[in-house]
Amino acid sequence: MEAKRIAAEKAADYIQDGMIVGLGTGSTAYWAIRKLGELVNNGLAITAVATSVQSQSLAEELGIRIIPFSAVQAIDLTIDGADEVDRDWNLIKGGGGALLREKIVAASSKRLLIVVDESKIVSRLGQFRLPVEIVPFGHELTVRKLGALGCDPKPRMVDHNRYVTDNGNNIVDCNFGMIERPGELHNAINAIPGVVDNGLFIGMTDKVIVGYRDGSVQELRK
Ligand code: A5P
Repeated sequence: MEAKRIAAEKAADYIQDGMIVGLGTGSTAYWAIRKLGELVNNGLAITAVATSVQSQSLAEELGIRIIPFSAVQAIDLTIDGADEVDRDWNLIKGGGGALLREKIVAASSKRLLIVVDESKIVSRLGQFRLPVEIVPFGHELTVRKLGALGCDPKPRMVDHNRYVTDNGNNIVDCNFGMIERPGELHNAINAIPGVVDNGLFIGMTDKVIVGYRDGSVQELRK
């Protein structure tokens, strides 16, 4: 928790007055939102777009002004967590179920700053099951098609019910093993009718800040 917190708080150094900020989702982004709330209460003037209902509620509780996505031309900087970060700064995201809004927000951001603890840094993506957001209609068929791409797909469940995203869809967690060509896999998954998007974020990351167990924090260099 401490490593996540220090990485997330460091990211706040990049936020300046007047910015439109994208707020990520998850236990690391949580600390970034907390820090921004503190800065806003001390006079920082920002507006924000949130990647989940949960992050929006937290931000509003802390006094951060949330604006609807429709009111935004471009987001200056988004701070978000990740489940895995590889050497090229490609990511697996979606462990918290927010991958679709996270990707929409990231794609509209001038810069995407990823905050993680050291356990998330990998040489190759794939140890973490890749989350895929699918529509409820034809669920079983879509799951089978995901399996045919070479994984053992696991529909995400909560209390014996399918997990439902903020968008009313479901999540399937897919173990593809070590992912050799993440860009190709990304496109193959998204070509399946019924798939809305998947948690591979390819070539979107501009900066990675890592928190370590020993209390240090580092900005990665490629
Ligand atoms: C949310 O859907 C995810 O993409 C998170 O950003 C990711 O799972 C990292 O979460 P933690 O910061 O909680 O580890």
